[in-house]
Amino acid sequence: MTRKSSTSTTIAKYKQIANEMEQRILCGEFPAGSWLPSERALAAMLEVNRSTVVAAYDELLAAGIVKRIKGVGTQVSSSVLTDRNKRLPDWEQYAKAGFFQPNHPVNRQIHQFVQSERQMINFAIGELSPDLLPVSLMKDAYRTMEADRYAGYEDFQGNLKLREALSGHLLAYRGIASPHSSLLITSGAQQALHLIIQALLNPGDSVVIEDPSYAYSLPIFHSSGIKTLPIPVERDGIDPDAIVPLHKRHRIRMIFVNPHFHNPTGTLMSTDKCARLLDISTTYGIPIVEDDPYSLTEYDGHRIPTLKSMDKDGTVIYISSLSKIVASGLRIGWIAGPQAIISRMADIKQQIDFGHPSYPQWIAAQLLTSEQFNAHIQVLRTGLKNKRDRVVRSLRQYFAEKITFTVPNGGIHLWCKWQIEATEQQLFREAVSHGIVYAPGSILGTSLNHFRLTFSRANDDQIEQGVHRLFQATKGFATLTQKHS
Ligand SMILES: Cc1ncc(COP(=O)(O)O)c(C=O)c1O
Repeated sequence: MTRKSSTSTTIAKYKQIANEMEQRILCGEFPAGSWLPSERALAAMLEVNRSTVVAAYDELLAAGIVKRIKGVGTQVSSSVLTDRNKRLPDWEQYAKAGFFQPNHPVNRQIHQFVQSERQMINFAIGELSPDLLPVSLMKDAYRTMEADRYAGYEDFQGNLKLREALSGHLLAYRGIASPHSSLLITSGAQQALHLIIQALLNPGDSVVIEDPSYAYSLPIFHSSGIKTLPIPVERDGIDPDAIVPLHKRHRIRMIFVNPHFHNPTGTLMSTDKCARLLDISTTYGIPIVEDDPYSLTEYDGHRIPTLKSMDKDGTVIYISSLSKIVASGLRIGWIAGPQAIISRMADIKQQIDFGHPSYPQWIAAQLLTSEQFNAHIQVLRTGLKNKRDRVVRSLRQYFAEKITFTVPNGGIHLWCKWQIEATEQQLFREAVSHGIVYAPGSILGTSLNHFRLTFSRANDDQIEQGVHRLFQATKGFATLTQKHS
């Protein structure tokens, strides 16, 4: 290749223009704060299409060299040259540029409130309160750890002892027959969802999600260019038949459901709907991702048949975690699915993080095989049921008909509807200023007068105090019935 061809002819015209304009800026021809020629003027001057100049200016914009002021023009950034004549990266511009989308601003706000010094009562984050954690079980497990033997990189698919323990656990507690070779250990169910998207889907693919849903709040779908098609959650889960017309229009690649004690509505998908969903999956060849962090939390100890346990044809990819039944900080989650996709995802996990940390895996293996694990689950169920009763009682006492909800039989969330004349933002602002934080419905993808009260994180006193604070925060607003009657 000649020198000429490696520079001017193989470099796209817009890049050549961007390079040249950058040089002119750095030489001081266009100092910081000055305006570049308009796109139209520069295009005429260089005898190129305006779109070529727009693309060139986009390059300068992405590099933080210029700013585009809508309706005014393109201005050289003030950070281009410092006093010492050095050029520094524009970090703000970099922070905006990455392809991974930011969290929903309200989600970010919630985490800031919860971590702030203020004494916030936390009805927003889905984790267990200290009194529900199996502390002595975890301490026992920790004591048995052979720290020196487990200090190296782990098997990328997950520690073998843990996968064997999990295989036994899945059969005993969830009716799922899955050999350890078909299991992948992940950093919570969250990473499991991310790996599935990264490994098995492509930008432009369409997937079904529930509306409302936890998945809605995750930017991971949209950051990967996945189109999400929401189906409303009814009292007994989504209507599986609603998938068929969507599939005919969009060619659905995957169905994401959280059928048991759904986040946020607390609903349980009926056995009939589960069967119909599996039917549709096998009729159209669409895999189902069953996201199941909650089925073990059924308060009265009834065994809930997971979709995966009903899946005779192997179309369900099952994901779950220990976050809602042991401790979210362990970050132990898993995927059970066909070996081919498990190996593919293990390969990606290796590239991302070199496998899951060994110590939490050791603790999890000990916990799952402990004779006391079953007793812990019983205690957890009773504890969650008590919290549910307490929050329901307090809401009825303070709010009567101002908040409506369906009482769940498992899980950690109460899906509530305001019967109050106020906007979501007004209510949330007032609640925060009274020291209580919850998840407003819009971050979960639904109409604005719903909100999620997650009652597992607060202790008994905090639940009552939290509902009282919520009452104080909203007592100035009229109820809908008052206004309309
Ligand atoms: C339905 C659902 N899926 C996945 C997760 C992720 O949890 P983790 O990554 O802690 O397992 C949550 C957490 O709230 C959830 O509710």
